Amino acid sequence: MQVRVAVIGAGYWGPNLIRNFTASPRTRVVAVCDRDPARLQRVQALNPAAATTTDLEAVLGRTDIDAIAIATPVHTHAGLGLAALRAGKHVLVEKPLAASVAQAEELVEEARQRGLVLMVDHTFLYSPAVRKLKGLIDADELGEIYYVDSVRINLGLFQHDVNVLWDLAPHDLSIVDHLLGRAPASVTAFGACHADIHKQTEDIAYMSLDYDGGLLASFHVNWLSPVKIRQFIVGGSKKSVVYNDLEPTEKIKVYDRGIITHNTDVEARHGIMVSYRVGDVWSPHIEQVEPLQTMVSHFAECVTRRERPISDGAFGLRIVRILEAAQSSIKGRGQRVNLLRPLRVVA
Ligand SMILES: NC(=O)c1ccc[n+]([C@@H]2O[C@H](COP(=O)([O-])OP(=O)(O)OC[C@H]3O[C@@H](n4cnc5c(N)ncnc54)[C@H](O)[C@@H]3O)[C@@H](O)[C@H]2O)c1
Repeated sequence: MQVRVAVIGAGYWGPNLIRNFTASPRTRVVAVCDRDPARLQRVQALNPAAATTTDLEAVLGRTDIDAIAIATPVHTHAGLGLAALRAGKHVLVEKPLAASVAQAEELVEEARQRGLVLMVDHTFLYSPAVRKLKGLIDADELGEIYYVDSVRINLGLFQHDVNVLWDLAPHDLSIVDHLLGRAPASVTAFGACHADIHKQTEDIAYMSLDYDGGLLASFHVNWLSPVKIRQFIVGGSKKSVVYNDLEPTEKIKVYDRGIITHNTDVEARHGIMVSYRVGDVWSPHIEQVEPLQTMVSHFAECVTRRERPISDGAFGLRIVRILEAAQSSIKGRGQRVNLLRPLRVVA
């Protein structure tokens, strides 16, 4: 069975969805909707068979459409997502799921009540490099995870409705959630606005997650950097991995390096805390598959089988929860926000 899809939003990212839904044998693009007719004209060549329209109601009213893919600005995700679910359509929505926890919860609840698939396009979860990294961690190749250090910076495309945290950090937060499978206990974040004269939109942010028990994760997202860096380090007790998404083929390097701790009395008396273990570095083979191709196949499979996607609504909600808490920490000039209890600034 082919899942019949309408794509809403044909700006920067929408055409990538149209192209991948068109290429997949499991899906068919029936319609593309954007409120800007010029955008529709530009994407027509990607799929000449798909109807193009500015009329969202007409799309939602069509009985030959099974699913709606939403690639519009973040502040519109909740309204469009709810309208699509209420029209009985399965929904794929771009990251982040919504602009607030309250909105994200409403979407998750609506999908649950209607028994419809709600999936968030957290694209990196479907990339071969992240899948490889997840395989290494699940096979206990890295041992106990001590830290994650992520840098995602470049001269960025400024978004109109979200800051750099809400734009870029969903990628890294989704990867961390997927890899670790556990929720952080608290978040602290700092941010600064330079380009926005109203000082409302942060273009630099530093965020730290504390998972208790010694595991820390740190993130730097930045639209002002002159150089592009996409580096994600996972440090473990046995091995560590450096994932560089800009590397064409050797995206993942596994370092068999680390420390050996010394904690006997004799060693302590001689001031010896650690010694170093320096082993091999290797780069596992990574398949060359476009992440969006895997993502759209997974969506189609979940719709067909009525299964929960890896990045389902609950997953998307967890990411929004961290983003909202981090935003509140930025407002509190780096105050720690507890994530175990409902969003509250810890004094
Ligand atoms: N997964 C990824 O890696 C990735 C990458 C980039 C962007 N995105 C996400 O994609 C979404 C869109 O980002 P973008 O950069 O393409 O934005 P954009 O501004 O380039 O495009 C948005 C499009 O939506 C249209 N639109 C807005 N409101 C609409 C409505 N109510 N009905 C119909 N059309 C409407 C606009 O006319 C525009 O063409 C965002 O959620 C963003 O976070 C995801």
